[in-house]
Amino acid sequence: MTATPAFPRADLIEASLELFAERCGDPTALVYSHLFTLYPQMEAHFWRDTNGAIRGEMLSRTFDAILDFVGERRYADHMIGTEMVTHEGYDIPREIFATFFSVIRDAMREALGPDWSEELDSAWRDLLIEIDHFVGVTPRTDVSNPYFQQLLAEFEAKGPVRTA
Ligand code: HEM
Repeated sequence: MTATPAFPRADLIEASLELFAERCGDPTALVYSHLFTLYPQMEAHFWRDTNGAIRGEMLSRTFDAILDFVGERRYADHMIGTEMVTHEGYDIPREIFATFFSVIRDAMREALGPDWSEELDSAWRDLLIEIDHFVGVTPRTDVSNPYFQQLLAEFEAKGPVRTA
């Protein structure tokens, strides 16, 4: 961890993830059972994942992203945006995408039982709010804006789309 982590209570988030791994070994099954209880329709989206490898990879990359986001924040803030757009290609609505972070928190809360403290709860609540900020500022690909409306109008009129 860096001397000044991007998220002030990074140590609590790191400790909770370590404890989660200690308690569960492999938390994949627990996390995805929370995800599919919340959104049963999402299970079918993993149709390519015949042996669980994609699920495991997605979870481990999300853990890495959380650690980077709270610590050095070298890439995770950008990754949230790029993965959100990539997931549109898997038909995962962006409104649903970021809830995976709270699904992890919920699974962890269950696994930690009495060790889930008020302090951890508050750190995770604030972390989810901060992540949500990066979700909200990612431009949508499915909603038009005046910039693209003008380019589209030029394209449809067979005019110059790029002048600069
Ligand atoms: C409820 C929210 C989410 C759902 C339902 C979901 C669903 C999926 C699905 C269906 C795939 C497999 C695509 C395929 O067939 O190849 C996938 C892959 C992936 N997801 Fe998610 N996702 C969610 C949230 C996230 C989040 C928050 C992250 C990380 C920030 C993430 C990171 C990844 C990565 C890295 C892969 C590629 C795994 C690989 O290398 O195979 N996902 N996701």
